[in-house]
Amino acid sequence: MKIITTIEQMREHSDRLRDEGNRIGFVPTMGFLHEGHLSLMRKAREENHTLVTSIFVNPTQFGPNEDFKSYPRDPENDSVLCRKVGTDVLFAPSAEEMYPEGSKTIVHVSGLTGVLCGASRPGHFDGVTTVVAKLFSIVQPHNAYFGLKDYQQYRVIATMVRDLNMGVNVVGLPTVREDDGLAMSSRNSYLSEEERRSALSLNRALRLAEDMFEDGVLDSAAIRDRVRETVEEAPHARIDYIEIVDAVELTPVETISGPSLLAMAVYFGKARLIDNTVLGKRRSRAGMNS
Ligand code: PAF
Repeated sequence: MKIITTIEQMREHSDRLRDEGNRIGFVPTMGFLHEGHLSLMRKAREENHTLVTSIFVNPTQFGPNEDFKSYPRDPENDSVLCRKVGTDVLFAPSAEEMYPEGSKTIVHVSGLTGVLCGASRPGHFDGVTTVVAKLFSIVQPHNAYFGLKDYQQYRVIATMVRDLNMGVNVVGLPTVREDDGLAMSSRNSYLSEEERRSALSLNRALRLAEDMFEDGVLDSAAIRDRVRETVEEAPHARIDYIEIVDAVELTPVETISGPSLLAMAVYFGKARLIDNTVLGKRRSRAGMNS
């Protein structure tokens, strides 16, 4: 596995790979890798000649009172895991390399970024789209892989790629869960044992919502209320939002008539966890760029 830390070297390497006819699969991450990341990397490994993984804790997607400083980091273990799943190139730039003094450009996707997590975390998605646009331009992947736990992020990035004609195929892959149903997330490491037990209410609430929908309940408010009750029963839970929105446009849905995203963000102690399910359409894999 080659480790590259400069933009110039990464770009040169990707140019060469492309010239030689290699298909590049890319998994951008902020490190502290878990099975969710590894499943993306395995898929990318399978579908491409070369797998590039990036590790960069992107400061611009954290708000001033968020957890940038304390975000979990374990570069040594990350590097072992990257090697294990067959990463060919690990791109791990510094913040100075990615954002040299004088950087002036921000990539902003309108509409999709003002709701759900975008409403609670102003500026977050501008940070995400700016860094992902930069990473795409440096790594020049054919295919890029994202987890659908961050469903809104996936929609925002797919829209950016479509609107800016970036020519990258954006692939969304299903959320990976622990055996007890907790969605894998680097931020799970913030949970105490008791908070972790409480956080299982998220998965429980999502399954309950799916059952209601299967039983014919199409009224968003009824489903949302039941989900809210289930989460609120859990000790330590502090709800940020629970919403049902159109799965493509992320606009509010009153009566479910097509694929609709039930998404939520809930604090357990200092961990802000997100989780979701798409009602109205079972998807095991999403690859839409629009
Ligand atoms: O999902 C993440 O880990 C980050 O938001 C990403 C896509 C790597 C951009 O920093």
